[in-house]
Amino acid sequence: MSVHTDVKRISVPQLMAYKGQKKIVSLTAYNAPIARLLDEHLDMILVGDSTAMVGYALPNTLTITAEQMAFHAAAVVRCTQRACVIVDMPFGSYQESLEQAFRNCAMAMATSGCDGIKMEGGAALAPTTRFLVERGIPVLAHVGLMPQYVNTMGGFKAQGMTQESADRILNDALAHEQAGAFGVVLEGVAEGLARHITEKLSIPTIGIGGSPDCDGQVLVTEDILGLSGARIPKFAKQFADVGALISQAVGQYAGDVRSGAFPTLDNCFGVKK
Ligand code: KIV
Repeated sequence: MSVHTDVKRISVPQLMAYKGQKKIVSLTAYNAPIARLLDEHLDMILVGDSTAMVGYALPNTLTITAEQMAFHAAAVVRCTQRACVIVDMPFGSYQESLEQAFRNCAMAMATSGCDGIKMEGGAALAPTTRFLVERGIPVLAHVGLMPQYVNTMGGFKAQGMTQESADRILNDALAHEQAGAFGVVLEGVAEGLARHITEKLSIPTIGIGGSPDCDGQVLVTEDILGLSGARIPKFAKQFADVGALISQAVGQYAGDVRSGAFPTLDNCFGVKK
């Protein structure tokens, strides 16, 4: 039996073809209500492991598991039709061996039906990118500021500020391109470096604290909606205060329950009119 839908999901090769043609617009989503709202506007939805911090209030992204990410990704895929859905592979789920990386990525893809995966790591991880791509798993690389490396980087610090660091990040991006990655996320890197990498690569770069000249941009949705509950990073911009709206609505609900204004008999079952 085949299933027909009017809307066709944007594929990884289509995203690659955006380079030099149009910007890739992306945000994170971890659950159905947000993903449903984002879908019509975006080219790519990233089920980011930032859900560890944003959704679970953990201090960093290190403790979320591949199984948790796969469940979040499945919810996002189920309620979207258009955007290409990429799932973040969490810390410890792909660094051990090529086989471990394939097993966990394949599990995440099979569980969720997502279109590809993202991994954080420099040139040392390029053989893993090659191994996965050769076995049918589209890989989005993530270089520069890599939150999963917070302990070795000594904090969430912008990268590429010295020539040595900039050369290393360029080399990281090139290594993933040569290994078959379909794109590279450039997080928290010097603007000139992000622009230079974008010019050098034949695959799209997606900036988050990168450069306006990156081939696309990604942000954490809660940051742009005023739902982060904290100061947002310099590279983000708040486009709405949904947090204030929610607080106002919940305040009204609480007031109505306490005053007896809600529920009314209209909200009850078996009431004879
Ligand atoms: O986990 C995440 O949200 C990310 C960013 C690139 C947005 O990796």
